[in-house]
Amino acid sequence: MDSVIGLVNRMQRACTGLGDYGGGNNALSSLWEALPSVAVVGGQSSGKSSVLESIVGRDFLPRGSGIVTRRPLVLQLQKTENGTEEYAEFLHLTNKKFTDFSLVCKEIQDETDRITGKNKQISPVPIHLSIFSPNVVNLTLIDLPGLTKVAVEGQPETIVEDIESMVRSYVAKPNCLILAISPANQDIATSDAIELAKEVDPTGDRTFGVLTKLDLMDRGTNALDVIEGKSYRMQYPWVGVVNRSQADINKNIDMMLARRKEREYFETSPDYGHLASKMGSEYLAKMLSKLLESIIKARIPNIISLITKSIEELETELDRLGRPVAIDAGAQIYTILGMCRAFERIFKEHLDGGRPGGAR
Ligand code: GDP
Ligand code: NA
Ligand code: MG
Repeated sequence: MDSVIGLVNRMQRACTGLGDYGGGNNALSSLWEALPSVAVVGGQSSGKSSVLESIVGRDFLPRGSGIVTRRPLVLQLQKTENGTEEYAEFLHLTNKKFTDFSLVCKEIQDETDRITGKNKQISPVPIHLSIFSPNVVNLTLIDLPGLTKVAVEGQPETIVEDIESMVRSYVAKPNCLILAISPANQDIATSDAIELAKEVDPTGDRTFGVLTKLDLMDRGTNALDVIEGKSYRMQYPWVGVVNRSQADINKNIDMMLARRKEREYFETSPDYGHLASKMGSEYLAKMLSKLLESIIKARIPNIISLITKSIEELETELDRLGRPVAIDAGAQIYTILGMCRAFERIFKEHLDGGRPGGAR
């Protein structure tokens, strides 16, 4: 049986493929909202894109100083069971399989420029990318532009608020888990990530603190106060990570080597050695996937009733149009309806699969 995250990924792809995400068809957008995902939040250059890349274990995201991520990137990781092939697909380029991940990076940049122009502008229109690989955990991750304090040359004055409201539109959703990225070489009290997360998730039930750049702290200092929850307490323990530095990126240090170095860093650290098993990008990825899986499982009945409601709405819509309906108006509704019925059936099987005597 498919993992439930894989199933939700397929449904999200199907919903977005029909072009109804965020508007248009009501039924589908409420369904989309009900499906959990994980978004990264933080100040510019805090290491958001780097954290996502480490979770995936591949190089494919544009990173660097300044505003690099200028459109939301909805990233669906799909674990494949057979074979060793790893490939990526964009929703805006159907039927094109990317096996060279440097081309994925280039396509993200080109597709960003296509909508925003090259001039450091931003757009809330997401890019959808799926990665299929035996080496990923099933997850839906969203990379977002970084929060900033001031507009730079060429940017409109409103950019600071525009970015904040774009980020907020993702993380305010109750089904969005928040990865609040804070660099260890800045005071936690000034963390943009924590500030926004606290506002949209005051109980902290869906916020995860991730501390980046531990390797860049001043000599003689460490982040134990943060990691042990003494300076800022979180519901979930903080996870410290060490991503590649800009020098590592320039030298093309590959991801597997970077992961090994990160693991070594924690295992041999006089400060964090005792916490090594709960630190690092691999731990973060596994923890998130497990959590997302359990959240989705708990919500299956809810997801089914949303699908059922969507089906009812679509049928009412068909009745209103009068059957047989004009091809144009009806075709899309029939497609969506068919899809909803299929997903309803599969989710119900999952529900049965979880019960004694069910088909597992
Ligand atoms: P974003 O703007 O938040 O997406 O940040 P990026 O992931 O683009 O990273 C910004 C810069 O910080 C890049 O040059 C990264 O190499 C660097 N960086 C990110 N995380 C770390 C880290 O843990 N350690 C070091 N040394 N550099 C990092
Ligand atoms: Na950046
Ligand atoms: Mg980024």
